[in-house]
Amino acid sequence: MKSTHVTNNPQGGTTAGGNGDGEAPGWRESVVDLSAKVAVVTGGARGIGWSTCIALAREGIRAVGVVDMAEDLPASVEQLNAKLGRSVLIPYRGDVTNGDFRRQVFADLEKRFGCVSICVPAAGITRDALAVRVNKDTGEPEVYSETDFRRVIEIDLTAPIYWSLQTIASVTRSRLQRGVKRWTPEEPIEGCIILIGSVSSTGNRGQISYATAKAGLEGAQATLAAEAIYHGVRCAIIHPGYTDTAMVRALGEDYINSRILPQTQLNRLIRPEEIAHAIVFMIRNAAVSGQLWVDAGWHPAA
Ligand SMILES: NC(=O)c1ccc[n+]([C@@H]2O[C@H](COP(=O)([O-])OP(=O)(O)OC[C@H]3O[C@@H](n4cnc5c(N)ncnc54)[C@H](O)[C@@H]3O)[C@@H](O)[C@H]2O)c1
Repeated sequence: MKSTHVTNNPQGGTTAGGNGDGEAPGWRESVVDLSAKVAVVTGGARGIGWSTCIALAREGIRAVGVVDMAEDLPASVEQLNAKLGRSVLIPYRGDVTNGDFRRQVFADLEKRFGCVSICVPAAGITRDALAVRVNKDTGEPEVYSETDFRRVIEIDLTAPIYWSLQTIASVTRSRLQRGVKRWTPEEPIEGCIILIGSVSSTGNRGQISYATAKAGLEGAQATLAAEAIYHGVRCAIIHPGYTDTAMVRALGEDYINSRILPQTQLNRLIRPEEIAHAIVFMIRNAAVSGQLWVDAGWHPAA
C-alpha cells in the first residue's frame, strides 16, 4: 500500500499555536526548529546517510553524530565541517550492531550537546541471492545462507530499531530531568525518527533477507509512532526507490539499465540528495506520519 499519511493534529512547530494575537503562524514558524536539536545518523559515511548529514547541517541543526564503520569517516567529516564552516558533524566509527558502541555514542553526544532527539538509522547492507536455488553442479536445491540472513536482519532491522529506542530513551531522560512526563500538543515536538525502508519492503526477487528486514521496519515504525508520541517523539518511514549509491552501483551498469531504469518513471536513479531532502521534510513537518514513498515511480514488472 502506497500512502502518505498526514495527521490531523496541527501542532508541532516551534511556535505551534501562533503568535497569540490571532494571526496564523507563518511558514517558517510552522516547521520544526532544528537549531537546538541533536541528531544521530547511522551509515553516515556514504550515500543516503551522508547526504542526510549534509542536509541537516545546512538546515542549521546544532549537531549530528555521524556513525559508520568506514575507515575514512573522521577525515571526510573533518573536510565537510571545514566546508560547512562549523564543527556540526561529530564522527563515531563503529559497528551499528554493537550495543556498547551505541550506548557510548549516545553518552558522548548527550554529555557534549544534551539530549539526542532525532534519529535517521540509515546504515544498511544487502546480501542478495535467491531464497532457494538449484545448484548447477550438484543438481540439488540450496537454501539461502542463514549466516547472511542473520547479518542482514541484525544490521537492517535490529540495529535501526535499537538506535531509535536509544533516541526515545534520551528524550525521555531529558523530559524526566525537566520534570515533564506526557507530551502535550502545546509543547514543541521533542524529536523524530525516520526509518529507512525500501521499495523492496513489498517483496523483491533475490532479496529474501533485505525485503524481510525492510518490511519489518514498517511494524516497528507503526509501533514506535503509537508509543513514542507519549514523549513527544514522532516516528515515520521513508521508502526510497533505487538511489545512486554504492549499494545500487554494485548491481552493475547492465542490470541498472535493463532491469531498474525501465521500471521507473524518471528513467534515472534517484539522487541521494533527493532522498535526504525528503527526510528533512519529514523531520521538519510535524504533521507527516506513517510512510512516504520516494521511489521515482517504481513499478516492478511481475
Ligand atoms: N540505494 C538505494 O537504492 C536504497 C533504496 C532503498 C533503501 N536504501 C536504504 O538506504 C540506506 C542507505 O543505503 P545507501 O544506498 O546509502 O548505502 P551505502 O552502501 O552507500 O551506505 C551504507 C553505509 O552504511 C554503512 N554500514 C553498513 N553496515 C554497517 C555497520 N554494521 N555499522 C556501521 N556502518 C555500517 C556503510 O559503511 C556505508 O557507509 C540503507 O538502509 C539502505 O537499505 C537504499
